[in-house]
Amino acid sequence: MEQITITRPDDWHLHVRTGAMLKTVIPHTARQFSRAIIMPNLTPPVSTVERAEQYHQEIIQAIPENLNFQPLMTLYLTDSTTVTEIKKAAESPIIFACKLYPAGATTNSDSGVSNISHIAAVLESMQEHDIPLLIHGEITDPECDIFDREKVFVETILAKITADFPALRIVLEHVTTVEAVQFVQDASEKIAATITPQHLMFNRNAILAGGIRPHHYCLPIIKREKHRLAIIAAATSGHSKFFLGTDSAPHLQSRKENSCGCAGCYSAHAAIELYAEVFDDVDKLDNLEAFASFNGADFYGLPRNTEKITLRRNNWIAPEYYLVDNDRLIPLQAGKSISWQLTE
Ligand code: NCD
Ligand code: ZN
Repeated sequence: MEQITITRPDDWHLHVRTGAMLKTVIPHTARQFSRAIIMPNLTPPVSTVERAEQYHQEIIQAIPENLNFQPLMTLYLTDSTTVTEIKKAAESPIIFACKLYPAGATTNSDSGVSNISHIAAVLESMQEHDIPLLIHGEITDPECDIFDREKVFVETILAKITADFPALRIVLEHVTTVEAVQFVQDASEKIAATITPQHLMFNRNAILAGGIRPHHYCLPIIKREKHRLAIIAAATSGHSKFFLGTDSAPHLQSRKENSCGCAGCYSAHAAIELYAEVFDDVDKLDNLEAFASFNGADFYGLPRNTEKITLRRNNWIAPEYYLVDNDRLIPLQAGKSISWQLTE
């Protein structure tokens, strides 16, 4: 296959930040995707409908005029989120989900939930209003090995949430392990998962072999090869429970290349092209459209997009960096060759 035309895809997990960073990254996403689920982990977090409305406005203003792009907003759950706020979210035309960050699990998660028992009434209300719960699935126990945090979360906390709220729609975000894939496959049809390009492309050697590579550091941390093979099998299977969510998470170069570097890979500049490369490598390009354009929309109960995009086999070199004010944003595969390209 030299060329592939698919329904315009959506990104079901995206960080776009604010200000100058937002202005740099939004055009990259809007060029490829029709819609994206916007993560609410700003400081302060987007924990009210009112704040989500303001953020929505800021995003809309950053969309280039010639592009159609719809940001789908989310609410950040905290220990003090109220059932009243969930009711407001259910009535809001711009809010599509709520995000659970275990407190301390990742970037800007300090205001997250310290114990899920604190949000039992909120989860009950989300179940009643059929609002999807998006989960950063890692436990935060400092004693737990960082490579085991997802597996332990799935076996303990996720198992409990799914048992206590059987009708709640849940997306386990950015799955990275055999255990998470297996859990989602075996669970009810209410449970689905997103998969990022970096977890499909790399195993943990990419972070540590031959030197520390901060641009491959994200959370959940990239795992060993057997886990990568399991998520490749899930993503490329065409199975309706697995869909595209880049978790593109831009940080300034100075914050990544640092003695305590931030977690997050920036992939929005070439996301659909990177996924195409992965699907092509295992001869599954036929299933790219289900993963990128159908499964997520179907799970969220939104109409599938009608526009098309075309990708062709063509080597091109990813930029070394993008400018953000006086600093730089280093994209995934900076300066490296990518074998599929979106045609304009
Ligand atoms: C994300 C970020 O930078 O906001 N970082 C990451 O490594 N994925 C937060 C998150 O999704 O965990
Ligand atoms: Zn994320």
